[in-house]
Parts: sequence; C-alpha cells; structure tokens
Amino acid sequence: MINRNCGSTSLDLISLREVSILGNTDYEAVVKTALEKHSNTEGGLLPILHEVQDELGYIPSDAVNLIGKAINRSRAEVHGVISFYHHFRNHKPGEHIIQVCRSEACQAMGAVTVIEDLKKKLEIDFHETTSDGKITLEPIYCLGHCACAPAVMVDGVPKAKMSSDQMDGIVNELRALKNDN
Ligand code: FES
Repeated sequence: MINRNCGSTSLDLISLREVSILGNTDYEAVVKTALEKHSNTEGGLLPILHEVQDELGYIPSDAVNLIGKAINRSRAEVHGVISFYHHFRNHKPGEHIIQVCRSEACQAMGAVTVIEDLKKKLEIDFHETTSDGKITLEPIYCLGHCACAPAVMVDGVPKAKMSSDQMDGIVNELRALKNDN
C-alpha cells in the first residue's frame, strides 16, 4: 500500500516476502500452476509471468521455454515481453530488493544523488546484486508517490522522502538481517 502521508522511513515495515519466496526452487511446479490458471485465458502470458515471478522472485530461462511451448509462443516472443516490462527479472535477485524511482518528480527532488550514493555504498549498478547476495538494486518508474519524493521501495514496501543517509541506515539494517531460508 502506498503511504500517501509520507510517513514511514524506517525498516520496521519491511515485508520479508521476497526472502521467503526465494526458497521456492521448484520452478516446474510453479510454472505448471501458473499455466493451469492462465494458459487458456486471452492475454494469459502476462498473468503467467507475474505469477512465476511472484513465486520465484524472477523468471528462469528454463521457465521461458516451458511457458512458450505451453501457449504456442516462441521463446523469443516470451523473452520479448519479459524484456519490455521493467518489472520482470530474468536473474535471481538478492535476498532483498531496493527499488529507487527514476521518474521525473523523484529526480527533481534528489533521487539522482540518492541513486549515486546507493550505487557507491553497494558497489553495484542497477540490475546488479551485491557480492554477498544480500541486496539487488533496481530502478522503478513512478510509484504514484510523487508528492513524497524521492520515493523508494524496499522489499515491496514504499518509503517516502528518502535521503542518502536514510538509505545508508536501511542498507545497514538489511545487511544485518539473517536470511531464514
Ligand atoms: S515520480 Fe517518483 S513516485 Fe512518482
């Protein structure tokens, strides 16, 4: 849920959904379930991809083959859809995902500095994961949270008016969290 009051900047609301789902490595079962639900629906490819990514955290290359065969689309077509939407990942993410808004309002309110400082602290670029496998950094394009810019999502939870110092604190807290998987 979007926090329209620009309230929370702390880590206590972070959902660990991303951590728990990454334990699911049985991609064939996940794809089969998604296909059963959506393959006979017009425009079913997107819901299939959403479901697979929600379960696995990304869409494995082998899953692309299975999906394509099941809905009579070529691998290139399925891959094209995955590449077109920023939301989809084709690599397994880290234990935690930080997404920073790169759209105009956030850029105008300091997101550029937040992004540069985050990249330096994490020693990675967008779409990369830290060497310890802890944190993946991704761009995101407007969270509908523009009045509270710069906006960030941490493990799916929106954070408002974030500064580099606040992001430093969040990164430190994420690094200190233990993965229960
Ligand atoms: S521009 Fe960043 S939330 Fe809208």
